Amino acid sequence: MTTDAPQGTDRSFLFVLGSSRPDGNTEALARAAAEQLPADVPQRWVDLTRLPLPDFQDGRHETGGWPAGENEEILRQATLEATDIVLASPLYWYTLSAHTKRYLDYWSGWLSVPGLDFKERMAGRTLWGVTVMADRDEVVADGLKTTLNHTAAYLRMRFGGVLFGNGSRPGQVRDDERAMIRAKTFFQGATPVARFPYEDGTAER
Ligand SMILES: Cc1cc2nc3c(=O)[nH]c(=O)nc-3n(C[C@H](O)[C@H](O)[C@H](O)COP(=O)(O)O)c2cc1C
Repeated sequence: MTTDAPQGTDRSFLFVLGSSRPDGNTEALARAAAEQLPADVPQRWVDLTRLPLPDFQDGRHETGGWPAGENEEILRQATLEATDIVLASPLYWYTLSAHTKRYLDYWSGWLSVPGLDFKERMAGRTLWGVTVMADRDEVVADGLKTTLNHTAAYLRMRFGGVLFGNGSRPGQVRDDERAMIRAKTFFQGATPVARFPYEDGTAER
């Protein structure tokens, strides 16, 4: 059986900005891609520096759980409301920024909130990545791409891939012509159900 991705107005995008500085390259590239989305597709933008989360504490196996803070609640709701989640993280040490990684760590907490059904509700949604790095060769961002693919695979989400850009000084990514061209069609790309490498590809697509 094929599970089709939601189309048109059934879609809503959440952009999660994970840079540790305002007006950075990653946001600029994500906005260039978002400009191409149809006007009737809602977009919500959250900046993790403006909704700071404390370091995640693993309370999954404790009784009683732990109270969610206000920012956690906002992010949890925004995450569950979106059909498409775009992690816009600069490349930091060849992977996601700490802000972005911490937000993902909270997904582990949400997975064990009784009655939230986080895993079931995330299945079939689409995860996307946008990243900008100082290095000109995107092969060095393989780790980030693998992290996002496997995260999507674990949750039975679709994965739209990663939009890469080059830049260091804020705004520099606008000079990366290849990235700006790719941004124009990025969200029109294929969104296959994500798979772990050990899955044989014959299962449901
Ligand atoms: C903590 C830190 C780690 C970084 N690590 C890498 C890296 O591993 N590879 C790389 O090419 N660039 C690295 N950079 C450069 C950033 O990816 C680059 O400046 C990018 O444009 C930042 O995105 P932003 O403008 O959205 O903040 C690093 C920058 C910082 C501050």
